[in-house]
Amino acid sequence: MEALPRPRAVLFDAYGTLFDVYSVGLLAEQLFPGQGERLALLWRDKQIEYTRLVSMSGRYRPFWELTRAGLRFAAQRLALPLDAAAEDRLMNQYRHLSAFPENREVLQALQRRGVRAGILSNGDPEMLAVAVKSAGFAELIDPVLSVHELRRYKTDPACYRLGAQALGLPERDILFVSSNGWDAIGATWAGFTTLWVNRAKLPLEQLDTHPTRIGTSLRDVLDFFPSA
Ligand code: LAC
Repeated sequence: MEALPRPRAVLFDAYGTLFDVYSVGLLAEQLFPGQGERLALLWRDKQIEYTRLVSMSGRYRPFWELTRAGLRFAAQRLALPLDAAAEDRLMNQYRHLSAFPENREVLQALQRRGVRAGILSNGDPEMLAVAVKSAGFAELIDPVLSVHELRRYKTDPACYRLGAQALGLPERDILFVSSNGWDAIGATWAGFTTLWVNRAKLPLEQLDTHPTRIGTSLRDVLDFFPSA
């Protein structure tokens, strides 16, 4: 295997990478037995589709609004009776996601090794602040960067540039970590060293681009930063 590059800092994607959206599917299943998984999947796909739609058309709306819009669409598509109370419960669940179990030890190990670790997310600043706080990561993550100020979404190259500018490092010296295959590809195109944490065991996006490394858990980040 080729020697791994030695980046100097890390930027994490947030949703699905640091924060586990699985609990949303569990609640969806409770509310709509037999349909929870489909609802959660369609919701996530629609949410991301809407980010691309508004970004490409210059009609930015914050991620929180698009998350709600995606939920409404997904419920209608599956003919589920989503009343205001159910919608609020699902949105609230989205606000307070838990972190994947291995994340804390990985973030702590990075801190011990003196590696700066931040977030670069499509989430709007308020959502991200709540998620970081609920997961207890406030002392472990810096900076928390949102695309909000650019009014565009990843995979617009400007969004990835924001990460490099904020850290004051060239892209290749930053490890960008995402569980979303498309995000890992977007960051690779933008010049970052990349790790796709393929938790869902999905096929690689068929776009003739390979992330620097493909892993299965956040622990794989530490391979790039051997302890001294
Ligand atoms: C994010 C979403 C796309 O945090 O996962 O950027």
